[in-house]
Amino acid sequence: VSHPISIAPSILTADFGRLAEEVSGLDGADRLHLDVMDGHFVPNLTFGPVVVSAIRKATTLPIDCHLMISTPERYVEAYRQAGADRLIIHAEATVHLHRLLQHIRSGGAEAGVALNPATPIIDLDEVLPELDYVLIMSVNPGFGGQSFIKGAVRKISRMRRLLDRHAPKVSLGVDGGIGPETAGQVVEAGADSLIAGSAVFNERASPAENIRALRAAIQGVGSRKDG
Ligand code: DX5
Ligand code: ZN
Repeated sequence: VSHPISIAPSILTADFGRLAEEVSGLDGADRLHLDVMDGHFVPNLTFGPVVVSAIRKATTLPIDCHLMISTPERYVEAYRQAGADRLIIHAEATVHLHRLLQHIRSGGAEAGVALNPATPIIDLDEVLPELDYVLIMSVNPGFGGQSFIKGAVRKISRMRRLLDRHAPKVSLGVDGGIGPETAGQVVEAGADSLIAGSAVFNERASPAENIRALRAAIQGVGSRKDG
């Protein structure tokens, strides 16, 4: 199975005073990555379903909600109603991961799971059939603009090998410190979904130009064969 490379900007470092405008100008993006934080699972608080539904109205891009929240079971319906196409929960945030992934799928959203840097990929061994998406954190979650954790590269390639063997259709994302200087190596390692916040929303260039630079940095890299 070959996975075309998907770029999903994260709005965490966008201008929250002009959010609708910011998300409507993301030419070149494939999806939109919304970082939901509850100030408990991670030491930062961002936004809830009401903002997700406002963003839903401002863009036609598929929406991924990255739920960095404790006991995400409580909010699956709310984020689905708000317009999320894919719900990404943290393996560390729930006791009943298998049931939660089934619950997400039964609500009509794609089921994604994120792994913090310290969480081994073996934690997903028993839930691969319940997954549509895996997100490898290459920073400790909570903030944008942090530096890329190098160990994520090996973790991505190990995760891709496991998925190729047992769940080849599952898409593999990486999140944190992704920009033109790190995108090549993570795609080479097997990531097909790139999340980028500060590399897209910054003072250096427009989001569209930054997305183009990211796309250029992975041109022809790791062009994965079928099978
Ligand atoms: C961090 C979030 C990431 C973050 C990425 O907890 O999950 O999506 O916004 O931001 P950058 O790309 O600036 O590291
Ligand atoms: Zn994220």
